[in-house]
Amino acid sequence: MAHKVKKAAKVLSQRQIAEGIFDMWLETTIAGDVKPGQFVGVYPVNKSTLLPRPISICEVDKERSAIRLVYRVVGSGTAEFALYEPGDFIMILGPLGNGFPIEKAAGKNVVVIGGGIGVPPLLETAKRLSMETGDNKPDSVSGVMGYRNSDGFLFDEFKEYAQMHMATEDGSAGVKGNVIDAMRQDQVKCDVIFACGPMPMLRGIKAYAEEIGAKAYLSLEERMACGVGACLGCITKTKEIDHHSKVHNARICTDGPVFDADDLDM
Ligand SMILES: Cc1cc2nc3c(=O)[nH]c(=O)nc-3n(C[C@H](O)[C@H](O)[C@H](O)COP(=O)(O)OP(=O)(O)OC[C@H]3O[C@@H](n4cnc5c(N)ncnc54)[C@H](O)[C@@H]3O)c2cc1C
Ligand code: FES
Repeated sequence: MAHKVKKAAKVLSQRQIAEGIFDMWLETTIAGDVKPGQFVGVYPVNKSTLLPRPISICEVDKERSAIRLVYRVVGSGTAEFALYEPGDFIMILGPLGNGFPIEKAAGKNVVVIGGGIGVPPLLETAKRLSMETGDNKPDSVSGVMGYRNSDGFLFDEFKEYAQMHMATEDGSAGVKGNVIDAMRQDQVKCDVIFACGPMPMLRGIKAYAEEIGAKAYLSLEERMACGVGACLGCITKTKEIDHHSKVHNARICTDGPVFDADDLDM
C-alpha cells in the first residue's frame, strides 16, 4: 500500500443537517482516488487532541476535486470540526481503508444498509452502484436506512440512486423497528449487502444474510487511534489467522473497515 501523507484540504462549505449532525465539503487532491466506504483521518487543529479522527467519505465530486464528510458531534475533535468555516484549511490523511467491493454486486440485487451515523458512506456507494449498472435508478439497487426518529438525514439524497426504505426506532417514519424489520416487511430483494452502522445492527445483518443465503460486507466503524496500522488500537476478531501476527485478529483501519461477514467472529 502506498504510504499516505498528511495533506491540506480547504473547507468549501459547512452546514448543520440534523440535530448534532454536520455536512462539510472539502477541496482536496485525494478526491480522484476514493473508493466508496473509505475514510479520511481529520486532524484537529487543537494540539491537545493529537490523533486524527476517522470520518467516512460520504460523497465525491471529482469535478470540484472535493469530498463530503457528514459527521456527528460527540467529543472534542468533532466539536472543533463543526466550527470550521469556508476558506479554512485543515490537515487530512487518506483515503484510508479498503472500501466496499462494489464489483461483487455486478448483476446481483444489492442492498446498501446504513444505521445512524453509519449512513453517510453508503451514499457514494449507492451512487457508484447505480453508475455501474448504467441505469439512473436501477431496480437492482435498494437502500434501507435506520434512524432513531424521522430526522432521516441524507435519506432523500439516496432516492436518486436506489429504491429506498426507512426504519425508525420510534415508528415516526417508515417501518417501526430496525433495518431487518424493514427488509422483511418491504420484501427487499437481496443477494449482496453493503452495510455500515452500530455493532448490534451489523450482527443482525450477518445473521439475516446467513438466513437468506446472501453475501454481506460490513464496515466496522470502531474506535481507532493512529488510523494507519501502527498502534493495534483497532483490532477485531476474525476466523482466519492473520499472516503476520499469527492470531485471529485484523486491524480495522488497514485490513478494513470493510470485512466479508463470513470472515468475522462477531
Ligand atoms: C472507519 C470509521 C469511519 C467513521 N466515519 C464516521 C462518519 O462518517 N461520521 C461520524 O460522525 N463518525 C464517524 N466515525 C466515528 C468518529 O471517528 C468518532 O465519532 C470521532 O473520532 C470522535 O472524535 P471526538 O474527538 O469528537 O470524540 P472523543 O470521544 O473526544 O474522541 C476521543 C478519541 O476516541 C476516538 N473515538 C471516539 N469515538 C470513536 C468512534 N466511534 N470511532 C472511532 N474512533 C473514535 C477518537 O478518534 C479520539 O482519538 C467513524 C469511525 C471509523 C472508525
Ligand atoms: S488505529 Fe492504529 S492500528 Fe488501527
